[in-house]
Amino acid sequence: MLRKKLAVLLATAMVAASIVGCGGADQAAAPAEEAPAAADDAAADDAAPAEDAADDAAEAPAASGDVITVGYAQVGHESDWRTANTQNYQDVFSAENGYELSLIDCDNDNAVQLEAVRNFITQQLDYIVIAPIETAGWDTVLQEAQDAGIPVIIADREIDADASLYDAWVGTNTKNEGVTAGNWLAEYLDGKEANILIIEGSVGASAALGRSEGFDEVAAQHSEWKILDHQSGDFTQDGGQEVMESFIKSYEGQFNVVVCHNDNEAYGAMDAMDAAGITYGVDGDVIIISFDATHDGLQYTLDGKINCNVECNPIQAAVVAEVIQKMQNGESFEATTLVNDEAFVAPGIESQYATTMTEEILAGRAY
Ligand code: AHR
Repeated sequence: MLRKKLAVLLATAMVAASIVGCGGADQAAAPAEEAPAAADDAAADDAAPAEDAADDAAEAPAASGDVITVGYAQVGHESDWRTANTQNYQDVFSAENGYELSLIDCDNDNAVQLEAVRNFITQQLDYIVIAPIETAGWDTVLQEAQDAGIPVIIADREIDADASLYDAWVGTNTKNEGVTAGNWLAEYLDGKEANILIIEGSVGASAALGRSEGFDEVAAQHSEWKILDHQSGDFTQDGGQEVMESFIKSYEGQFNVVVCHNDNEAYGAMDAMDAAGITYGVDGDVIIISFDATHDGLQYTLDGKINCNVECNPIQAAVVAEVIQKMQNGESFEATTLVNDEAFVAPGIESQYATTMTEEILAGRAY
């Protein structure tokens, strides 16, 4: 059967780890061992001879001109970043490009996401792409996909599962994003005290865990910094506003830095501070750090309301499509691909870790 043969072909493909690049200015690419691993040669014992593999590749849907069916289990629609990421998948995995995309918005619900993946398996789609809501709980369903011979690509976020259970990973280095935010803050404060409040992303999401880990690592090197509190705003504007309102009740007058794990949380936090008469940004009392660097987030950065905005690039679908095309053709494919990230700071700030915002940069930002 084509699918079984294709699975064998994929399992025996020479998998090469590759780093496309990561970081603006001085942000270093993650060492290969820190990046999520991809499929190993667990199925090597079943390996088809090279001639069979070539035959199988010729039978693959792309080669025969058939439509390639792809299921994308998307996190939800919690943020502008997510909307841009969804649009990017719809653009790349279009009928015009030879794909039939089944995109399920899982509304940030783990159970819905597992069900979506199981439905993709039942429908025997050619490929499954998962943007995992949480890092945990993936082994069983990934084993089911593997047993069904359907290649799986994990995208955007990371998972805890055994790397032999999926075929490739594409995403950003969120720990590096957190480190960049911390390094920028240290540079900006230049030894001054920081009393920090953190509005984290969704609990259990690798994007939140990574940013916290990276930022905390830098914070630990600064005895003049104090993290007063951290709570999840669930990557939403409403969540950011609610958490900030509660922070203001508990810590009004005691904080001078607010770190938001994404732009939407930052918008909510700014609304809460506006309502409380607290000033922020380059001319205010509170420094705001955000992540994502979406169009509107960069507008606030250009306006000096957000001091530093560390990008998490949502434009990842073309990289996923490239991996799929290589699998289709029986070529070696990248086990791990890091998508480029940059960081941006408000006008008037010079940084070795980030680019100073301009109108031109904003004009070039489509999402
Ligand atoms: O996983 C990427 C994160 O998820 C983005 O930072 C956030 O906006 C989204 O909801």
